[in-house]
Amino acid sequence: MRLAGKSALITGAARGIGRAFAESYLREGARVAIGDIDFDRAQTTASELRAGAMAVRLDVTDQDSIDLAVAETVACHGQIDILINNAAVFTASPIVEITREDYDRAFDVNVTGTLFTLQAVARHMITSGIRGKIINMASQAGRRGEPLVAVYCATKAAVISLTQSAGLDLIQHGINVNAIAPGVVDGEHWDGVDAFFAEYEDKEPGQKKQEVGDAVPYGRMGRPEDLTGMAVFLASDESNYIVSQCYNVDGGQWMS
Ligand SMILES: NC(=O)c1ccc[n+]([C@@H]2O[C@H](COP(=O)([O-])OP(=O)(O)OC[C@H]3O[C@@H](n4cnc5c(N)ncnc54)[C@H](O)[C@@H]3O)[C@@H](O)[C@H]2O)c1
Repeated sequence: MRLAGKSALITGAARGIGRAFAESYLREGARVAIGDIDFDRAQTTASELRAGAMAVRLDVTDQDSIDLAVAETVACHGQIDILINNAAVFTASPIVEITREDYDRAFDVNVTGTLFTLQAVARHMITSGIRGKIINMASQAGRRGEPLVAVYCATKAAVISLTQSAGLDLIQHGINVNAIAPGVVDGEHWDGVDAFFAEYEDKEPGQKKQEVGDAVPYGRMGRPEDLTGMAVFLASDESNYIVSQCYNVDGGQWMS
């Protein structure tokens, strides 16, 4: 029960890694707001998880939606002690085929959404005197570029940079900002990635997943549960002295 009495808002938690974070936080005694643009699925997820979970309608690209989601979480759970900026979209294409529409969407959700959700929750924490924890979801994609994944990689590099600056700024208020960089984590997100590579690299469905899993030093793709230990640690008092860091949780893929 390392998060007993805490209240968390997790964006993009209707499915995948965010859902696993929600489950682990509930197990550790926290109340959790599952914020997602897919509100129906967020409601289903909240009802499938144990008591203490609530669904919140949230589009991180819309400032009013962010403000409402923060207000709703505070109204239901009293305050927000922990934020995980987990919502993101994946996009990929060769450099010569990138469209402004795709670029804008990816930066809107992954970077602008992360910054302004962080800002809204940080304002709440500061005015309420909460020494809170903010965790941003980066990626190994933010550590280096990839030929077909330029835009997504750039958004995740920006998340790492924002984590560094926000962490240095907010620690004066006792708010820790850190990030987690997963490697390849199986789930619906990766179903889409696999389908993309099937098209662009002429692979069989499932082949890309097999290849990336085989390339992980640990010996397989990650599972959402592989990330929950770090997410609980970074939300707990055990991480009070950790500021502006980005932790690789990737089965040994990236050294930094
Ligand atoms: N799966 C991986 O291999 C992997 C690797 C590295 C990093 N990550 C990162 O981890 C996080 C979670 O990944 P995942 O695999 O669970 O992704 P996912 O695609 O399964 O889930 C993302 C969730 O975000 C929600 N979302 C999308 N746009 C939104 C918006 N505008 N506002 C609110 N919610 C929105 C979606 O509805 C979905 O529920 C993401 O930040 C992702 O970039 C994932």
